[in-house]
Amino acid sequence: MPLGMKSRGILVKRSNCLVFFFHDGALHCKNYLTGKEFEASPLLVPILGKLDGWRGFRGVERLLPEYSPASIRQSLRRLIASTAVLVRGGSQAKRESALSAWQTWGVEARFFHLATKNTHTAPITVDEARFNRALKRREPPPPSLKRYFARARVHLPDPTSQLHGQLPEVLLSRRTHRHFGAGRVSLEQLSILLRLTWGFTNHIHWPGLGSLPVKTSPSGGARHSLEVYLWCSHVKGLSPGIYHYRPDRHELELLKAGRIAEQMARLCGHQEWVQDCSVLFVMTTVLARVTWRYRFSRAYRVILLEAGHFGQTF
Ligand SMILES: Cc1cc2nc3c(=O)[nH]c(=O)nc-3n(C[C@H](O)[C@H](O)[C@H](O)COP(=O)(O)O)c2cc1C
Repeated sequence: MPLGMKSRGILVKRSNCLVFFFHDGALHCKNYLTGKEFEASPLLVPILGKLDGWRGFRGVERLLPEYSPASIRQSLRRLIASTAVLVRGGSQAKRESALSAWQTWGVEARFFHLATKNTHTAPITVDEARFNRALKRREPPPPSLKRYFARARVHLPDPTSQLHGQLPEVLLSRRTHRHFGAGRVSLEQLSILLRLTWGFTNHIHWPGLGSLPVKTSPSGGARHSLEVYLWCSHVKGLSPGIYHYRPDRHELELLKAGRIAEQMARLCGHQEWVQDCSVLFVMTTVLARVTWRYRFSRAYRVILLEAGHFGQTF
């Protein structure tokens, strides 16, 4: 809200996404949803403590009789600008109310998730080799091997003669590729990838829940919270656009038609090579599928582990 904006009719309350911590000896307040952080007086904590429900500026003045109305109005405007205080109906209030699925896991999981989610807002222009050389000058990199000295060792048989067949060959030849050919992925190839990675392959019986679908990757408690969205640019037989994969019917649902190559690069932290790929597979999670069953925040890790499984199966 602009600082000069009229306060009549505006309802405010404290943000539900605040953490306080000390940094260099000073108390800091950070909104982990918006990323805004500021140095705060310890007096702010009991004041925000009172702003637990929607109130007009007059209502806030009545709550804090020890402060003058003018200083309260000025402070509220600052707190709104720094996103520590919400305005009812504002975009930040709407974003916060969309976080209700996170409530089950307390503050820690959503703090980690939201405070660490932002990526580069512009293409990276630093020279990778120079950057790493500068890092090395500051401090040598940690060793890439861990060793236990003076322990009994077991020499393993040489596996080389066994590393034949399709699976070992696929595993041994896996690499990250950042350059793509001019050809297009076919709908048949896409169908195989989807079926073998995100498709339902079978059903298992789960105590108390009955039949649950399973996939080629494991999932904690067979909750399968991951969804996959396809950002298609060059797929033969498929118009460019964003699609959602339905694993039960093995079909795609078109969410947005049109060319999206540049948005794809932006989505990946402005890595421009991404816009040359035929199709980008974007995984999201339906949090409630996990929080419904696992009420503790450690389960958040399971979602990240699962995304790794799917990435490798793919
Ligand atoms: C979780 C994860 C995130 C990654 N993010 C990026 C990325 O943003 N950009 C990129 O070019 N490569 C990324 N990579 C690929 C790594 O750079 C790559 O795995 C590494 O250079 C080793 O090469 P290899 O995959 O061919 O073995 C990522 C890999 C993983 C596992």
